[in-house]
Amino acid sequence: MRRFRVAVVHGVNLDQLGRRDPKHYGPLTFRELERQVDEWAGELELIPRFFQTNHEGALVEYLHRAEGLVDGIILNAGAWTHYSWALRDALELADVPAIEVHLSDVEARDEWRRSSVFDGLVLQKISGRGPEGYKAALEALQAHLVEVAPERVPASGTPTEEHLSSSDTPQITDPTEPTPPGLHDDNDADPAAAPPMPAQDPTPPTSMTSPPAAGPDGGAL
Ligand code: DQA
Repeated sequence: MRRFRVAVVHGVNLDQLGRRDPKHYGPLTFRELERQVDEWAGELELIPRFFQTNHEGALVEYLHRAEGLVDGIILNAGAWTHYSWALRDALELADVPAIEVHLSDVEARDEWRRSSVFDGLVLQKISGRGPEGYKAALEALQAHLVEVAPERVPASGTPTEEHLSSSDTPQITDPTEPTPPGLHDDNDADPAAAPPMPAQDPTPPTSMTSPPAAGPDGGAL
């Protein structure tokens, strides 16, 4: 059976899981959540790619690069869900089936959390099921992809993941925990797939930490 590539994408403040209110978000750290999702994806024979950022533009650019490189997206955009029309436009550009996930029950919390910019664009919105919501999302996405696969098989060749792994894309978000191999797009893992860009810092440990904050001209602060 064809193995589908699924991007598991997290937005603002999700890297802080473990510090956020466990009443809404549970006890897992972000890295533990990703590991769990990675395990479920493996059981379903999906190929997961993980991405998290606290920078809206970085997520927009990630979604710009996604078309043809992933077969589906699972997206928890955090608070951006409720107001970032730019992200909606970017997800539409990605043009792949997507499922929106929230750990907490967004319908039962503040009024402003009830609306989502992704309404009508995603296959489903799953909320209030904690980490299990991601499992349900993986299963639903896989079932959908199996159904629509013939239309989505690339006409020729296998696209590389080069531009999903570009050097200006933040990949690692929790500097306090070691990153399990294979969880993230990692430029160092396969130099042929992701040649270093001229501006890239070649020192491996720096690629394991959060990206520096960007100044108005895009340079590091
Ligand atoms: C969230 C719900 C959002 O309302 C909130 O801003 C988040 C997390 C969730 O997973 O429950 O940051 O997306």
